[in-house]
Order: sequence, then C-alpha cells, then structure tokens
Amino acid sequence: MKLIIDTDPGVDDAMALFWAHAAPEIDLIGLTTVFGNVRVDQATRNALVLCDVMGLDIPVAEGAGQPLVLPPFPPSAYVHGDEGFGDMPAMTPTRAKDPRDAVTYLTETVCAHPGEIVVAPIGPLTNIAAAIQADPEFAGNVKQIVIMGGGLKGGNITPHAEANFYHDPHAAHFVMTCGAPIIMVGLDITEEVTCVPADFAAMAAASPKHGQMLQDMSHFYLRFYAEYGLEGCGLHDPAAIIAITHPELFEMKRTGVSVVCEGDEIGRSVPSDEPTVDVAVGGDAAAIKALFMDRIGTLP
Ligand code: BDR
Ligand code: CA
Repeated sequence: MKLIIDTDPGVDDAMALFWAHAAPEIDLIGLTTVFGNVRVDQATRNALVLCDVMGLDIPVAEGAGQPLVLPPFPPSAYVHGDEGFGDMPAMTPTRAKDPRDAVTYLTETVCAHPGEIVVAPIGPLTNIAAAIQADPEFAGNVKQIVIMGGGLKGGNITPHAEANFYHDPHAAHFVMTCGAPIIMVGLDITEEVTCVPADFAAMAAASPKHGQMLQDMSHFYLRFYAEYGLEGCGLHDPAAIIAITHPELFEMKRTGVSVVCEGDEIGRSVPSDEPTVDVAVGGDAAAIKALFMDRIGTLP
C-alpha cells in the first residue's frame, strides 16, 4: 500500500516514520511537512534527516508554516525540544527538499494514482485542507486519509482540544467534514498506548541505529510526560500508522465529527451527523504497543 505521511517531526513523528519504514505492508513513497511541533523549515530538515537514517530517497515536500485562518503559533518546544528531537542537536541532512510545495506534491501524486494512495496527516491538517481545496478530485482520488488528531473524550493541549486540531481548527473541521474516506485516530486510543524508559532501552538494544535514535530523543519527551505524573509517553503518531495496517486492533465508531473553530473550546472534536468517518474510540493498547516495539526491533 502506497503511503504519504504529512508530518511535523517531532519525537512521536519520528517513531511513526520509522515504524512505517519497518512495516512490510507499507510502501512509504513521500513525506510532506507542516508547522506544529517545530517550525516548518525545521520539520522539513528533520524529515530529511529521518530519511537519511532510514536510507530512503523519497520526496520531502515542504508545506504550510502557519494555519489557514489563525495567526502563527510558536512551536511546541516544551514537548519536543528546541529542534524537534528532544535534547538532540540539529542535524544537517544530505539531501535537499523537493522543489514542489506540499500541496503540489500531494495533488499531483494522488491524481497520478487514483484510489491507491493512503495519506496520513500526523500534524496540523493545513496541507491536507489546502490540497482538497486546490484539487476538487483529491478527496475522491485518495484511498484513505488516516489522521492522528482530535479525541471525543477531551484534549491534551487544552482540556478540550488535541494539539493537531488546536493548531489549525479550521483545516481540521474542513477535512473532517469533506466527505473523503477518513479514519480519525485521536487521544481516545493514542493516550492509552505508552512507552516507558525501559521500552526505549529495549528498542535501542534491538535496533542500534533506529531504536537508539528513538531512545536518544525520548528522554526530553518522557520528562514532559513526567511533569504530569506519567511514567510513559504517548505513541500518538505511531498509533495512527498502525491503524492503517492493523485496523482490527482498534475499536471504531462511525460518526460525523465537526471541530470547534472559536471560543474557549476551540479545537474540540464534537460528534455530529453526516458525513461520517471512522473514529478510533478504543483498542487493544497492549497489542498496539507490542507491534510498535517488535517492528522497530527489526530495523538496523
Ligand atoms: C500530536 O501532537 C503532536 O505533539 C504530536 O506529534 C502528535 O502528532 C498529539 O496530540
Ligand atoms: Ca505529529
């Protein structure tokens, strides 16, 4: 299955990309980048660095630096570190970004392979909304849009809002209600799938390059969770990628979802009627975590 990941790397974004690379079911054909955990130029640089680590020569197309409507947000350095990978210093990639912008890359690639490509946004939905707006055929040509975002029970960045929806609620609302085939993998399950320091040590032992890098970037991310009294960190973005290949591990509910675009509850996901999407409201968290760790362990 051909997959494009739209990403703001980000510690758990790196976990998601490495897992997609390890998955035999997935042909990771390209990346697009967006602001969020870091500035978009940092996101592009980090995505290229991760491609170097994976040995993947695929397009990395840069996307939006700010939301569709709201003014720009500062990066979430308090969660992911100043450069996006926790305490790790900025690294210089060997390759340059794709000459196309994210919307051009997404629309051209999906149009060239109608019904074949899964797009997985694991950052704010700005690029995806812009692609749907730029190409009226995009929502019909995409095989599936599998989103890490939202949550019916509550938020993480505010009591109501999950961070990716909060950082561009207008884009999130537009995408969630566009009628495309969508799976929403939000906090209702991603907060349940956690790794503790010993899990990262095990991955580093099994996978000296990829697993070690995840352990190196995990320390800062784990300290953020520890401030809330939590021993483990959430595998948000990997859980969304795992839902593509292993939907049987998730409990899905079919419902419409709209996103609050103003006021105190901005960014909140609210159940609605049409059009419906599949929302992961639960799942086998232990099995999802085991699958994540096992497959990271197969990487060099
Ligand atoms: C989401 O927000 C970002 O901090 C993570 O990378 C993930 O995509 C979790 O709310
Ligand atoms: Ca992310």
